[in-house]
Parts: sequence; C-alpha cells; structure tokens
Amino acid sequence: MAGDLLLRGAAAGRPAARTKSSPADLVTDHDRRSEECVVELLRTYRPDDGILGEEGGERPGRSGVRWVVDPLDGTANFVAGYPAFAVSLAAERAGVVTVGVVHDPCRGETFAAIRGRGATCDGRALAASRVDRLAQALISTGFSSDAEVRDRQAACAARVVRRVRDLRSSGSAALDLCWVAAGRLDGYYEADLRPWDRAAGVLIAQEAGAWVGGAAGPPDDALTLACAPAVAEELRALVGPE
Ligand code: IPD
Ligand code: CA
Ligand code: CA
Repeated sequence: MAGDLLLRGAAAGRPAARTKSSPADLVTDHDRRSEECVVELLRTYRPDDGILGEEGGERPGRSGVRWVVDPLDGTANFVAGYPAFAVSLAAERAGVVTVGVVHDPCRGETFAAIRGRGATCDGRALAASRVDRLAQALISTGFSSDAEVRDRQAACAARVVRRVRDLRSSGSAALDLCWVAAGRLDGYYEADLRPWDRAAGVLIAQEAGAWVGGAAGPPDDALTLACAPAVAEELRALVGPE
C-alpha cells in the first residue's frame, strides 16, 4: 500500500520537496503519507508494538516489540524520478532486529528475512555473493547529506574504486543491502546511516549469508558494511576506522 502510494507519486511527476538538515537532505509529502500508511497498518495488526519512524519519531508501545520504519528510503531518487527507492520496516525486540522487510515498488520486489530463517525475495531464497577477490567485486556505497562527512566519504571512495571491479551508488541504503543479499552486489558500505536506513536491510543481507559489521562490532551509525564473507577483512580495512 505504501509502495503503491509512492509509485503513483513518482508517476505524477517531480514531487515538491523541502530541505531538512542541508540542501541534500530532502523530504516530501509522500515521505509523511507513506509513514502514515505503515503506521495505520501496524496500529491495526500490532496495536501494542512501539514504532520508530524517520518522519514521526518515537511512538512508545508496551509489547516489547518496536518497528523501525523508513517510509521512503531514497527520497532524492524519488523526487528525480530515478527508480531506486523503497519502503523499509524492521521489527526489533530488546534492540535485536528479528524481522526485516524492504519493498521496492519500481521493480515490484519484496525482500524479507526472519532472524535464523534465511532471506527471500518474493518468496525465493536469497544467497549472497561468494566472490573471494576484491578485484572482482562490484561494490556500492552512499553519501551523507552532511558536506564534511561527504568529503571523507569521497576520499574513501577514491581509495576503494582503485581496488574493486567497480563502484556504484544507488541512493537507497535499503536497496543496496537487499542487493547484497541477492548477490547483485558483492558488497556495500556507508558511513553516517541512521537505524531506519539499515535495520531491515542488514538482517536481510545477514540472513542471505553476507558478512555484516560496523566500525567496531555490529553495523552502527558510523559504518554499515555488508559483503561477501571472503572479502570482508580486506574491505573493512579499506573503509573502516583508521
Ligand atoms: C538516504 C538513502 C541514501 C543514503 C543516505 C540516506 P533517505 O535515506 O538511504 O542511499 O546514502 O545516507 O539518508 O534520506 O532517502 O531516507
Ligand atoms: Ca533512508
Ligand atoms: Ca527516508
């Protein structure tokens, strides 16, 4: 439903966007409307759960489950009509993500995972890449809306691109993580993500057999890295903290 709303919004032509923290940080009425749509469904089927939404913030619950929602991941793409945006939902208990769902309305694909039970795309099991040499790896990354962080990311991307087969940037962290799960990418890394950008996609990548990690332990706001296990050490040394 949220996906259909976004698809109709994109088809109607360049949606009006406002800026948030910087000229690169965009929000549209569709971000808010998509979140309302997801929250309404969660309120109907999971009335006791809490919700953390990118647009609506924290709505406390009493079941011990909290949904982490990015109602539109890839807003800059959505505004431009570039077909790479998604709705991302994750359920966590005691801070551990147990369920992740990412819907890509442009391709009509839905990625999902339950912790310990594997990952799927439209019901088909996913398996991450088994590439074992960085020189053969297709890697994706993304860029923060903060100009200073971008400078560091650009320097890091310059180091990475010399070592890999090629470097991509889709503009949707959630889709990048799902495409690692599907083996379409051999790896993805990004600094400065927020929980709603990565919560569902990280579980989907991990359940598909990708290595996932962050600056020191699990993915965090400083670094999200998901890749073929055999290239993890080398890639982490390239993109991780010095
Ligand atoms: C953004 C996308 C993008 C990533 C940015 C995120 P938004 O999310 O995931 O790929 O590079 O860091 O902020 O703002 O479109 O929900
Ligand atoms: Ca996002
Ligand atoms: Ca968003």
